[in-house]
Amino acid sequence: MKIVVVENYEKLSSEAARIIINQLKKKPDSVLGLATGGTPVGMYENLRKAYAEGEVSFKDVKTYNLDEYCGIDPKHPQSYHYYMHQNLFDYIDIKPENVHLPSASENWENAAKAYNDLLNQTEIDLQVLGIGSNGHIGFNEPGTSFEQETFVVELAEKTRLDNQRFFNSLDEVPRYAITMGIKNIMQAKQILLLISGKNKAETAKRLLEGKVSNDFPASVLHLHPNVTVILDEDAYGLQK
Ligand code: PGA
Repeated sequence: MKIVVVENYEKLSSEAARIIINQLKKKPDSVLGLATGGTPVGMYENLRKAYAEGEVSFKDVKTYNLDEYCGIDPKHPQSYHYYMHQNLFDYIDIKPENVHLPSASENWENAAKAYNDLLNQTEIDLQVLGIGSNGHIGFNEPGTSFEQETFVVELAEKTRLDNQRFFNSLDEVPRYAITMGIKNIMQAKQILLLISGKNKAETAKRLLEGKVSNDFPASVLHLHPNVTVILDEDAYGLQK
């Protein structure tokens, strides 16, 4: 696991975007695994800018997102479909048919299986991840088997509380999501994990301690051969 510590969120965002841009320059038809949440917002901003300035094209890129809330419409402002369009897809030259997210408005179990089948037919070159304060990656909550494939997950209370900030009330935060499983995530050739902010410092400390356990899903990344973790100083703070 390669650890990169940068000064602040701006540097984390530009460094993460730089890694993706370099990947696309090396392989213009790369398959990217993408994440949502607060952490990668700045990375997407940098990617939009790089596209606008003609530095990079997404015309042959395929994307697969990690997860989607169950039971909310793709047009809902808090759906991850909406997030991805707002933060990236609407501003770049990616082909609509090359964009993939779990389709979780109905028939969740069928949709999870269909997404898993799709993932098993592809190979992700570079998977971007955030981390939940409880150590989740995607929505693989503590206790999830490392052999888990894409499934319908009941969100941990901690996750719903953390994500309440995006909704009007806790009651509105969905209880279920479809997520790539840990096994799917681990099949990516390369993984980029972003950790930002003081509120993730305990989480980062636990990850960097190196103990691998189902109780802390992100710890599985110690078993992957090509992981880069970018942390800002606020997230790295407790190491010193
Ligand atoms: P955040 O979410 O970037 O909004 O903190 C990370 C995650 O839950 O994976």
